[in-house]
Amino acid sequence: MSSLDSEKIRLTETVQKGGCAAKLPAGQLREILKKLNIQKPINLAVGTEHMDDACVWDLENGQSLVQTLDFFTPIVDDAYDFGSIAAANAISDVYAMGGSPKIALSILAFPSQTLPIELLEPLLQGALDKIQEAGACLAGGHTIDDDTLKFGLSVTGFVRTEKAWTNSGAQAGDILILTKALGTGTLTSALKRRELNDAYLPTLLASMKQLNRAPELLLGETIHAATDITGFGLAGHALQVARASGVAFEIAISALPILPGARECLEQKILNRAHKTNWDYVQNEVCFMEQTDFSRSLVTDPQTSGGLLLSVPSARAEEIVKLLKIQFPTTAIIGKVVAGNPQIIFNS
Ligand code: CO
Ligand code: CO
Repeated sequence: MSSLDSEKIRLTETVQKGGCAAKLPAGQLREILKKLNIQKPINLAVGTEHMDDACVWDLENGQSLVQTLDFFTPIVDDAYDFGSIAAANAISDVYAMGGSPKIALSILAFPSQTLPIELLEPLLQGALDKIQEAGACLAGGHTIDDDTLKFGLSVTGFVRTEKAWTNSGAQAGDILILTKALGTGTLTSALKRRELNDAYLPTLLASMKQLNRAPELLLGETIHAATDITGFGLAGHALQVARASGVAFEIAISALPILPGARECLEQKILNRAHKTNWDYVQNEVCFMEQTDFSRSLVTDPQTSGGLLLSVPSARAEEIVKLLKIQFPTTAIIGKVVAGNPQIIFNS
């Protein structure tokens, strides 16, 4: 192909699965990681041990370096949108550690036989705009020719060592807060199948493009644990925090913020493979007071560039929600942390 007619190219039709729904099943990955003898130098404060969002390296000057990597296949049809969503999603793992992103390197696999090379410009522009909005810089990258388009970033950030957020510090009595509405998995599946009502697209895109810059809003606050909700869904990522922290979570289904159209799509059973693999991953450690197809598919819905899940001291929860709502109006208290074996209890 030589001429660029991006109106006609629908990127989601060039791939079998899109966004974070294309992750390998978490359970299988966990089993394999357990078998490896991974060394952990003393300065590596956070490594692979708890499947945290990023690694943290203590620089021994009061600062720590935060590093992460994320890439995936097209989740939306427009190249600019895809670039900015992939960037927001990759940068999010630095925010999930309480850090501020500084350097981004791009990872790009491009099918030059089937897509016009001109598409790269809007794709990279979308990513660049997000990187710069986050106060970081694009400093390099690596490209290969490949069968399917894949794009993402490795992002380096910094955090004051004592302020680093991890997924292992949730305490009984904490309140759980979620910053973005759920439903990107089912909505993007509907988009790929051309079944998405156009009215739902703007809020979907805006949510996936929004940077998770909560650390800047919560500078004076103590956050016991944090993670971002991505491919393993709310249940999978909440469970990783519960496991890493050695506590149980009680989450109210009725309190979960949901993107416009997502309930409708889930009720129409517009699901993808990740709904099933996410369920396989969590099913032995979740229980429902009242399980419905809807509640089960909502909590396993794979998110792309989803919100942050924060575990915070109960005395500060209302104030923290107020601060988060300035940038994330759908922020909600969704449950609490209780003592007990790691599991997620979903109340109605
Ligand atoms: Co993450
Ligand atoms: Co990630």
